[in-house]
Amino acid sequence: MALEAPAGGRVRIIEGDAARLPTVGDGSVDLVVTSPPYPMIPMWDAAFDRAGAPDFETRHLLLDSAWAACRRALRPGGILAINIGDALRGDAQGFRLWSNHARVMVGCERLGFRPLPYLLWKKPTNRPNAFLGSGFDPPNAYVTLDCEFILLFRNGALRRFPKGDPRRAVSRYSKADRDRWFSQVWGDVRAARQETEGRRTGAFPPELPERLIRMFSVVGDTVLDPFAGTGTTLWAASRLGRDAVGVEIDPDLCAALRARADRLRAAVRPAPEDAAPRSPR
Ligand SMILES: C[S@@+](CC[C@H](N)C(=O)[O-])C[C@H]1O[C@@H](n2cnc3c(N)ncnc32)[C@H](O)[C@@H]1O
Repeated sequence: MALEAPAGGRVRIIEGDAARLPTVGDGSVDLVVTSPPYPMIPMWDAAFDRAGAPDFETRHLLLDSAWAACRRALRPGGILAINIGDALRGDAQGFRLWSNHARVMVGCERLGFRPLPYLLWKKPTNRPNAFLGSGFDPPNAYVTLDCEFILLFRNGALRRFPKGDPRRAVSRYSKADRDRWFSQVWGDVRAARQETEGRRTGAFPPELPERLIRMFSVVGDTVLDPFAGTGTTLWAASRLGRDAVGVEIDPDLCAALRARADRLRAAVRPAPEDAAPRSPR
């Protein structure tokens, strides 16, 4: 069978809560690629407080509900990829680390996901000598947090394909890509611009979801982002010939996502003059 280049996948936007994933069918998703609000960093404090989650554990209980909803939406063998960073914040005893990645690992494993080896995204810094603590005398300085995690889980047993499945063949990656993508530390992905129209978004760079989508899905699959934000995962999935579903709670971001999804749909639909049969000259 001839292998066709991937066409732009469809993008569906849902305004709603990641903890419920309204209208996303059970087992309807092949891959989740997402980055939630990070507990214990100032940018998301107000949103967690408004949701009635004032501390580390209650914030992660909210995220646990989202991971449970992802498990419901994922097909057997589907992959959940979560980009998350740890946080530093003082408490009554002083300076400390809040290990978001460890808490998400525990939460997802409790929900029944199978943990897989994870990736470390080493973000290039423009302050290479940034240092927490004081002076040069041991032992009271702190290591810089310059990596984020991409945690990987599988929903149950391995996903199987019929022998010679053309969707799988057309989705193949090269040896060079495999060698780069499947080594544990990604040091070659630049961070994204974090502001759109004066507003901080927490967007990740397109290369992150692009790699994950090529690593863990095949052309024609459905990719979900339950914390869609500016839609980086969704546009990457569509470019790569996968359908995309984005859930976002913020109505303004949702309106922007819908507008961009409509433009994308209009761009891939053939214009009437292209669709009509050509008259002979
Ligand atoms: C870290 S940002 C995601 C950024 C996204 N990866 C991008 O590249 O733009 C987290 C997003 O989750 C949204 N959000 C927060 N709580 C949510 C919830 N309960 N359900 C759905 N979306 C939520 C926020 O509004 C924000 O847009």
